Amino acid sequence: MQDQVSDNAFAIELFSGLPKRYDELAEVLSFRQNAQWRRELVSRLSTHRPNTILDVATGTAGVAIALAAATEARITGVDISDAMLARGRQRVQRAGLAGRITLELARAEALPYQPGYFDAVSFTYLLRYVADPEATLAGLARVIRPGGHMASLDFYVPPKVGWRGAWRGYTRTLLPAAGLLFGGRPWWDVGRFLGPNIEGFYARWPLPRLVAAWKAAGMVNVGWRVMSMGGGLVMWGTKEDA
Ligand SMILES: C[S@@+](CC[C@H](N)C(=O)[O-])C[C@H]1O[C@@H](n2cnc3c(N)ncnc32)[C@H](O)[C@@H]1O
Repeated sequence: MQDQVSDNAFAIELFSGLPKRYDELAEVLSFRQNAQWRRELVSRLSTHRPNTILDVATGTAGVAIALAAATEARITGVDISDAMLARGRQRVQRAGLAGRITLELARAEALPYQPGYFDAVSFTYLLRYVADPEATLAGLARVIRPGGHMASLDFYVPPKVGWRGAWRGYTRTLLPAAGLLFGGRPWWDVGRFLGPNIEGFYARWPLPRLVAAWKAAGMVNVGWRVMSMGGGLVMWGTKEDA
């Protein structure tokens, strides 16, 4: 966790107050679209029957648990937030999956695994929080074996003008207000942060640039699906055979 405080302090602080109500509010505030995007991501990896999966930015382990339900893989989840991981460990325990899912504190930017260690890597809502998305993608791809697979999900900005207007209205007003109502101050903060952060990210990293970064990281057959009128983006690809 070298240099973590300077590089990741913002994300650690942002997520420190969220774990208690995270799983419930992530669904409510996304109108249950998060569950659909997650299903798409899981199906993109489970179809390849991986034996080992690394789930990066695992948070409260929702994706790791869904991957465990859809595969027979052993899963390692990593995150920089102790608070999110603590909640994740409770959920893994309750799901009876402690024998298959291990949660560890680690940064996506400096994964402590050998090259090619995993059959598959998933990451969710991550790249907006790292200083160098291209280098982070290269590090994620590095730990996948040749011929293995990667899939991701994140929010997106609706491409169609009408939906984008509605999305802007929602993210700038209702989202923070509903966050405050249901989750208190930490959810107000994250609600206010999200809309501008998502738009700023895709202004710098439009989809073609993201796809190019996946390819530069050694991923081939890179595909994507824009979902829920543009509210969510699921991407996938295969690690080039050496
Ligand atoms: C919105 S949550 C998503 C949690 C989970 N993946 C899910 O879909 O329910 C984003 C997570 O990314 C983690 N995160 C942010 N920056 C990170 C980094 N550089 N390395 C690892 N995890 C990071 C945060 O701590 C947080 O738990």
